[in-house]
Amino acid sequence: MQFRLTDTALQDIEADVAIGFVYEGDDGRIPGIRYWDSLTGGLASEMADRGELTGKYQSVAIVHRPAGARAARMVLVGCGSPDKVSYARWRDCAGSAWRHVRTTGTKSVAVLAPYGSGPDAGVRAVVEGIGLADFEPDVHKSANRKDSRLESVTISAEDGSPGALDRAVATVEAQNRARELVNEPGNLLPPRELATRACSLAENVGLACEVLDEQRMRSMGMGALLGVARASAFEPVMIVIRYRAEDAPSEDSPHLGLVGKAVTFDTGGISIKPSADMHLMKHDMAGGAAMVGAMLAIASLRPRVDVTAVIPSVENMPGGSAQRPGDIVTTMSGKTVEVLNTDAEGRLILADAIAYAKDQGCTHLVDAATLTGAIVVALGTTYTGLFGNDQAWVDQVVKASRAAGEKMWPMPLGEEYTALLDSPVADLANIGPRWGGAVTAAAFLEEFAGDTAWVHLDIAGTAWYEKKAPHAPVGPTGVGVPTLVELALEL
Ligand code: BES
Ligand code: ZN
Ligand code: ZN
Repeated sequence: MQFRLTDTALQDIEADVAIGFVYEGDDGRIPGIRYWDSLTGGLASEMADRGELTGKYQSVAIVHRPAGARAARMVLVGCGSPDKVSYARWRDCAGSAWRHVRTTGTKSVAVLAPYGSGPDAGVRAVVEGIGLADFEPDVHKSANRKDSRLESVTISAEDGSPGALDRAVATVEAQNRARELVNEPGNLLPPRELATRACSLAENVGLACEVLDEQRMRSMGMGALLGVARASAFEPVMIVIRYRAEDAPSEDSPHLGLVGKAVTFDTGGISIKPSADMHLMKHDMAGGAAMVGAMLAIASLRPRVDVTAVIPSVENMPGGSAQRPGDIVTTMSGKTVEVLNTDAEGRLILADAIAYAKDQGCTHLVDAATLTGAIVVALGTTYTGLFGNDQAWVDQVVKASRAAGEKMWPMPLGEEYTALLDSPVADLANIGPRWGGAVTAAAFLEEFAGDTAWVHLDIAGTAWYEKKAPHAPVGPTGVGVPTLVELALEL
C-alpha cells in the first residue's frame, strides 16, 4: 500500500473512493456542508435532512457517483463535535471510513486531510487510521478471507510534510507487524518461533538480533524465568534486538531499554486458569510483540539514542515437571522469590529481563506486559495502566503517549504496596493479597528496576479488542508501539 501527499483538491483526484470528514454542529447542522454539496450535487444536504448524514462520531454516509468529484464514491465520515477534535479521533474516524469500503473492491482512495492545529496531525491521522483499519486477523482462513485490495491512498493536504507522512507509515506498519505476531496462536508461535520471526523482521531492517537459549540463561542465573518455562515442551528464549544511533551519542546520553513480556501461551501453570476464554491467553506476548514493532519503526526513523529491546519468551504450562506453588527461585539479580501462584508468571520472567537490560547498560527502561486481570478491573479496556519509579521519566512517557494518541493513566506505587510482597521464606513473594493486584505486580517489578529510571505499562486491558470497533476487528490492537516510537524520537 502506497501513501502519498498532494495539494490537488479532493474533487480533482481520480480514485475509487474519496473520503471527507464532517462534524456535528451545535444546532444539529453540519458545519461547512455547502462544500460537500458542491462535491455531491447537493446530495449532502438532502441526506442530512433525512438524517442519513449526521456528523456523529464514527458514523458513515456514502454518496455514489458524486456529481462534483472524480471519485466513483464518496464516504463522508462523522467526527463528532468540532470542539472535541483530536489526532486520535481523526485517526479512528479515518479508520471507520475505510472499514466501510475495505472489502468492496476499493483499490484507490483519496482523502482530504483534516486540519487542526497544523497540517501534520491530520496527515498522520489519515495514514495511521487507514493503515490500522486495514488489518484483519484472518491469515489462517483458507477461504472467505476479507481481503483488502488497497493499493494507493492519496492525501490532499496543503503544507503536509513528507516527514510526517514517512513517520506515520513507519509507525503503522510496525504496529501491524506487532498485531500479526499477537494474532498467532500458541501452537504456531512458541518462543523459538517468535524469536525466529522477530529476528528476521529485525535483520531485514538492519538491526542486530540475538537469541539467548536456555543454557545461556541458566549460566546467567535467570532462575525465575526458567522456573516458569519448566513444564513446557517448548524451550524458552530471551530475544535481544539492538539499535545503535549513528552519530555516537555522548557517554552520558540515555540508553533506552524496552522490555516486553512474551508468554506465548499462559495456562496459569499449576495454578491453572479457568477454561472459559483461556484461548485469549495467546495474546500474553503482546508486550514483547510491541517491542519488536517499536524496534522496526525505530530502525527506519533513526532516532539519536541507543535502544535495546529485551523480550523474555516462555510458555506457562502445568505438568509433572512444572514449578509448584511454594517453590523458591533465585533471580538473575540474586534476589530470591517465593512463587505463591504460578499464574503470576509475567513478573517472574520480567524480573530476569529487567536485570539483563540493566546489565546491558540501559539507563531508561519501559516494560510493557499483559500483566494483571486487576488492571482491567481498575481501568477497563480503555486506558493502559502506567507505573514508574521516577517522576520525570513517568511524565515523559505520559507525554509521549498523549502525542501518540494512546490512552495511558498514571497509577501509584509506594512502600505500603511493596510491604504486601513480604515472604517469610524468601526475599519476596510473587503475589500480594487480593486487592490492588495491578499495583502489587508493579511493585514486584520495581524491586528489580532498583534505581534505574523505569516505567511499567500494564496492557492487559488494552492489547486486545474484545468487541468489533468501527475502525478495528476483534483481535490485537498493537498497543504501545506508537508511544514507544514517539518516546525514542523525543529522547
Ligand atoms: N496473563 C495474565 C494477565 C491477563 C489477564 C492478561 C487478562 C490479559 C487479560 C497474568 O499472567 C495473570 O494470570 N495474572 C494473574 C495474577 C494473579 C495470580 C495474582 C491475574 O491477573 O489473575
Ligand atoms: Zn498468568
Ligand atoms: Zn500471563
